[in-house]
Amino acid sequence: MKILVFGDIFAKYGRKLIVDELSDIKAEYKADFVIANGENSANGKGITRKVYNELRSCGIDVITSGNHIWDNKDVYNFIQEEDRMIRPANYPSPCPGRGYEVYRVGKVRVGVVNLSGTTYLNPLDNPFDVADKIYEEIKNICDIIMLDFHAEATSEKIAMGYFVDGRFSGVYGTHTHVQTADNMVLENGTGYITDVGMCGSVDGVIGVDREFIVKKFRAQRPTGKYALAMGKRQINGAVFTFDDTTFKCTNVERIYKIYD
Ligand code: FE2
Repeated sequence: MKILVFGDIFAKYGRKLIVDELSDIKAEYKADFVIANGENSANGKGITRKVYNELRSCGIDVITSGNHIWDNKDVYNFIQEEDRMIRPANYPSPCPGRGYEVYRVGKVRVGVVNLSGTTYLNPLDNPFDVADKIYEEIKNICDIIMLDFHAEATSEKIAMGYFVDGRFSGVYGTHTHVQTADNMVLENGTGYITDVGMCGSVDGVIGVDREFIVKKFRAQRPTGKYALAMGKRQINGAVFTFDDTTFKCTNVERIYKIYD
């Protein structure tokens, strides 16, 4: 069993790239299931129903998200009814949508969980407590449980990996848009990587025009509407391989593709 995951798909530039390349990448890695983070897929902020449909129809099975999930109001029109759209489970209960779901992939039951970190991010419920609670709820109805931990701090993500090692099957980070090189299988069989990176422009600053961002850092004040970066493109992700009998992770491979 192979599960392909992708980091934050950023705006139209990232979307078009994934739409064009996904079938080849799926074939290359013989992927059975695809999860991608889409929290920035609509113009770099949030997601719309149209974008959700576009990503789903190109072959992404489940779309996870993060702190930008509410940025485009159109999300309220579909998040409740679409069980392939996941938002961080540690948002408070009045928020619509779901933080985890269980899917059938042939005979295999795959749980997908999304959590947000709280270090340098919104003060949500403690993600470690919520991970514990969800695990107890779904452990008997899942063969594989994947966690997209959308977090800023590498330390918080590594700590989460160790915390759920041997319970969750695969844990990967999103949000920073920069891939880390620490893909591994942890001591108790959980596949892990701190951040899988992003899908979109290589030439900007995490997807945004570089001149705009440099100006912003130098000015330390609002500098107007941001522009999206263009230029060379990248697809960042990882492929998690699981034993077909024990469902333990046997390998985590990074995907880092550059396109002119
Ligand atoms: Fe984010």
